[in-house]
Amino acid sequence: MKKHCLIVMIITCVVVLYSGVALAEEKPGADAKELWNYITTVDPYTEWGFWPDHKGLQPGRSPHGAGHKVFVNSAGLNSKMPPAAYGTIEVKENYSPDEKLMSITVMYKVSGYNPSDGDWFWAKYSPDGTVDKSGKPAGCIGCHGTRAANDFILVHDFN
Ligand code: HEC
Repeated sequence: MKKHCLIVMIITCVVVLYSGVALAEEKPGADAKELWNYITTVDPYTEWGFWPDHKGLQPGRSPHGAGHKVFVNSAGLNSKMPPAAYGTIEVKENYSPDEKLMSITVMYKVSGYNPSDGDWFWAKYSPDGTVDKSGKPAGCIGCHGTRAANDFILVHDFN
């Protein structure tokens, strides 16, 4: 009987541990608040890398601000050809001319979310995480759509 209990306990522990790991790796849904929590707490974007052809602070074009940094998670960095892999997240910090953080814009590749426009979930936040825009804003898609062949990504060339 004792031995049986021990086995049950061990199995329970393994299951609990395993689901904990699985949860930590789970990506957020197509939801601006969930995505913010993910990029700031679950997998902080400041620890991600940069595209090899777009590292660190770069001069920016309208409407995103005078300077910017684009952080990319490993799903994106491991994508060698367009389209970027599902789960790819790009986080762009937008700076004023005096290098003050003005806003954070995000592109997140979600399977089946918006197939006609590259399955990207778009979001714009204030530096404190307040959601300004999110979902499938026509503005974001219109501008980035000029580079649909490069999977709507402007700062990095796949080829
Ligand atoms: C008027 C055109 C325009 C609009 C509208 C626009 N963008 Fe951009 N976006 C750009 C340009 C140009 C870049 C390249 C970097 C730069 O010059 O600032 C860029 C880069 C980005 C990047 C870095 C990844 C990449 O290479 O594409 C993200 C993330 C991003 N934009 C998100 C957004 C979101 C979210 C919206 C809507 C809220 C949006 N953008 C609306 C022009 C636009």
